[in-house]
Order: sequence, then structure tokens, then C-alpha cells
Amino acid sequence: MAEFTLPKNSKVQKGKAHAATSDGTARTFKVYRYDPDSGDNPRYDTFEVDTDNCGPMVLDALIKMKSEQDSSLTFRRSCREGICGSCAMNMNGKNGLACTTAIDDCKGDVTITPLPHMEVIKDLVPDLSHFYAQYASIKPWLQTVTPTPSGKERLQSPEDRAKLDGLYECILCACCSTSCPSYWWNSDRFLGPAILLQAYRWLADSRDEMTGERLDDLEDPFRLYRCHTIMNCANACPKGLSPAKAIAETKKLMAERQA
Ligand code: SF4
Ligand code: SF4
Ligand code: FES
Repeated sequence: MAEFTLPKNSKVQKGKAHAATSDGTARTFKVYRYDPDSGDNPRYDTFEVDTDNCGPMVLDALIKMKSEQDSSLTFRRSCREGICGSCAMNMNGKNGLACTTAIDDCKGDVTITPLPHMEVIKDLVPDLSHFYAQYASIKPWLQTVTPTPSGKERLQSPEDRAKLDGLYECILCACCSTSCPSYWWNSDRFLGPAILLQAYRWLADSRDEMTGERLDDLEDPFRLYRCHTIMNCANACPKGLSPAKAIAETKKLMAERQA
């Protein structure tokens, strides 16, 4: 697997140390800190956390650091149960959700950085504006040309509905795209695994009537074809999905219509 790279604005300087506030079992966390308003280079701060008096997940430790040691520590979180995707970050070299990553599963000192190779807004918060703009570009909604059946929903057979399994569960956390070397180097033009999985989610939907137009939009040397099947994306997905498989299915649809 390719080495993970630090965020784009990284020239790390010496950081601060924060001690645990009670005598329980202390674990050490090295946390990436960056505040663009300070004018300082990024740094790693060290936090000792009493894990006997803390929830089991890395997000629990971050919340404890923020509440008890440094209120300026900045990170995103919302649901605390692996549904919203906002707490995605890199822990000990692996992308994942802080709320579903157990501290006990992280060996040694726990190093926490923002998602790799992204611009950083502050501390552990990456700038996802471009990622979301790419998502909007694939028109992630049902598109039809035939009139809606009067007074009815557009129905789907159980078999057709099952074709969306492995796709609809994506929470757009960006763990996959930010672990993909092709996305690191070409994110300006390559859509990346998360957005391509979402694009295939609509190609695979039996109710959608814009398959040809959707494929036309992807037919480009960069948007789709920069995927070289390195498979980091499937290894990184905290929901167990395989964007690489969705990309392969899209390439198959592309080849079938050219045959
Ligand atoms: S399989 Fe494709 S999308 Fe997934 S990590 Fe590799 S190059 Fe990126
Ligand atoms: S495919 Fe997985 S890793 Fe990628 S955005 Fe969706 S949930 Fe996150
Ligand atoms: S807080 Fe929602 S996925 Fe972690």
C-alpha cells in the first residue's frame, strides 16, 4: 500500500505537551495542530489521556482532550455512531472514523492527523469544498424523462433494489478518496473513488433514465480513467464498501456501450 502523506500545508514544528489530569491508565496521543490565523507552521501536540476515565473510541479521547486540556483543539464530529462521516481522520497511518475506531486497536502512541493530502482549515478539519463540488457535478439525484406514474411512486423490483446494496451505504466520509494516490496527484480532474462510487449508485438504479448522459459525463481520460485499481480505497472504507468494484462496473458499462 502507498505511504500516507501529510496534509498539503505541512512543515511541522515542535509542539506542546498536555499531561493527563488524573492517575488512571494514560495513553499518549500526538495530534496535528494548525491554525492559519496564527501564522505559525503546523506542529504536533502531545496529550496524555487517562483512558480509565474515557470512552473507548478515539473520538472520546479527542472530546476529553478538548474538554479538559485544550479547548482550542478543533475537529468535526456529529453522530458518534459511524453514520454522518464527519469525524473521518487519519489515525496511526490509517484513515477511518474516530467514533468507530477503538483506542485499544491503536498500537503505541496514537498519532492523529487530518485526512491525507487535503488543505487544512484548522487542526483536524480538512477543506472538503472541492470534494463536495465534485459530488454535485455527478448530479446525485434520480433523473427521469418519462412522466411520474399518476399518484404512485416509481417502483423497483426487490432484485433491482438489491443492486444498490454496497452503494447506498456510503456516508461520503472521504476516507477512500484521501487514501487514493491517483486522487492525491490528480484531484483537480480525477473524481476519486467516493464520487465514482456515488456516480455508479445512480447508473445502477433501475429507475434512473439518464444512464447515457451520466456515462457521457464520465467519458474522459481523467474523471474516471485515472483509477489504476490500486485498491487503497476498499481497504480504507470504514463501511466495508468497495469503490474499486463500482469503478470497475462503470468501466464495464462504458465498454459495453462502445462494443
Ligand atoms: S482502486 Fe482506483 S480509486 Fe481505488 S485507490 Fe486505487 S486508483 Fe484510487
Ligand atoms: S465509499 Fe466508504 S470510504 Fe468512501 S466515502 Fe463512502 S463510506 Fe467513506
Ligand atoms: S461522528 Fe459521525 S461518523 Fe463519526
